[in-house]
Amino acid sequence: MDSSALAIILSLLFTALLSFAARLLLLPSGRSHRQRLPPGPLPLPIIGSLHLLGDLPHRSLRCLSARYGPIMSIRLGLVPTVIVSSPEAARLFLGTHDAVFASRPRSPEAELDFYTTKGLVFTEYGPYWRSVRKLCTTHLLSGVRVRSFEGVRREEAGELVASLREAAAACKAVDLSTRVARTMEEMACRMILGRSTDGEHDLKGIIQEAARVAGAFNLADFVPFLRPLDLQGSTRRFKAIRRSVDKLLEKIIDDHVRDAAYYDSEHQEDFIDILLSMMNQPIDRREEKYIIDRTNIKAIILDMISGSFETSSTSIDWAFSELMRNPQAMARLQEELETVVGLTRMVEESDLSKLNYLDMVVKESMRLHPVIPLLVPRESMEDAIINERFIPKKSQIIVNIWAIGRDPSVWSENAEEFVPERFADNGIDVKGHHFELLPFGSGRRGCPGIQLGLIQVKLVLAQLAHCFKWELPKGMVPSDIDMSERFGLSVPKANHLFAVPTYRLLV
Ligand code: HEM
Repeated sequence: MDSSALAIILSLLFTALLSFAARLLLLPSGRSHRQRLPPGPLPLPIIGSLHLLGDLPHRSLRCLSARYGPIMSIRLGLVPTVIVSSPEAARLFLGTHDAVFASRPRSPEAELDFYTTKGLVFTEYGPYWRSVRKLCTTHLLSGVRVRSFEGVRREEAGELVASLREAAAACKAVDLSTRVARTMEEMACRMILGRSTDGEHDLKGIIQEAARVAGAFNLADFVPFLRPLDLQGSTRRFKAIRRSVDKLLEKIIDDHVRDAAYYDSEHQEDFIDILLSMMNQPIDRREEKYIIDRTNIKAIILDMISGSFETSSTSIDWAFSELMRNPQAMARLQEELETVVGLTRMVEESDLSKLNYLDMVVKESMRLHPVIPLLVPRESMEDAIINERFIPKKSQIIVNIWAIGRDPSVWSENAEEFVPERFADNGIDVKGHHFELLPFGSGRRGCPGIQLGLIQVKLVLAQLAHCFKWELPKGMVPSDIDMSERFGLSVPKANHLFAVPTYRLLV
């Protein structure tokens, strides 16, 4: 939360305290309804418990849940919210009662904004969302489609290795976080838009600004009557970036329509080509009333970009930082790569299923550093009783997977340590069936890009560990690596990882 937001909260707090005191004097019997809700901190008027969130809400919420329990009721501004913080509770909300909690909260602005109503991530549950989800899982993110982009991933990973070889020859430290982010952005843009980020448009800048605006804390989301005042300028920034995104996507779609006439049999279809080939047809044959038009295409494409742009690179950044902090884990991974792949070639995607230790490294890193630690908020579609507590319709549901991943009663006393071996024979995977480990969420709203995300993360991580020996810049020891977090839509490392590569393959 930035300082201007904090200042606004403090001034609201003062007003709130006055009205709270008046309420206590005038309405002594207002607690009977609250008693049926899950336990939680007593909210202040207007701001509720927003002031308790701090800069890293997943951490503050874990402390609060330790006091009030794994199903905690908290009011954020005027929005009634339930915080879920144990595997058993997560199973209730995302498994047993998934159908009740499968919607997303909507701000009044969303009514006017097709990007949040015609896409997937923020669209409310219903026939439209179901149709778009099916379209994405069948046509864009299916196993066959993901495999068809293997060549793009191989080329981009090869480029990364080549650029790191140059740094290795010069014995130079590289900003690994930036290099990996660039590679993942290239992979995503070539697959989704069929073009590199270096084109004529400021594609990368616009998308990064859109992610920054979407991830910024906006008080009006929690106290809607403040929205017309636009105290933080969020609405103005949102409208401006929305215009730029729209113009950019229109231009890219126009280019695709124009170029389609010249495609030959070698042409690799990207997501826009696929969606354009379905234009004017029903999104789903069973829901004929929704027809694909340019608006749907833009909204879906934007969701694909925002879903894939930062998630994979952030996951790799955390995992590689953990490997640099734990040289024995790095050594074991490199040993596995030498045995399975050998030093005479780079890693291929067909190797990934044989790399068991790599799989454990990725799970362990996602346990400690889930890139979306509070998942994407859900909303209850009807009143519900969970564990004998009342959850009113339209409550916001936040699942704190970061807290679940570090709970010593689930993961034993060494829960804060990076120990990939813990996954050696416990059968836990990240696909959403094991509620103690949910980096991709679970249930109807679970991540549809999980297969693609996992391949990207494993491939690039394996390539980095296989092709190079890594040392920290002079004077640094593993425990000096900064693991602090920056909170936004996702939670990346606050500071970049720098390291010195030495090429180690024999080709
Ligand atoms: C390591 C990579 C990734 C991670 C860790 C990740 C994580 C997540 C999480 C935690 C959610 C919310 C789930 C929930 O609310 O239960 C989500 C949703 C989503 N993700 Fe991913 N994701 C990744 C990669 C991708 C990729 C590559 C794409 C697409 C190209 C994608 C597209 C989406 C979409 C569209 C949703 C919204 C689904 C809905 O609301 O129906 N993700 N992801």
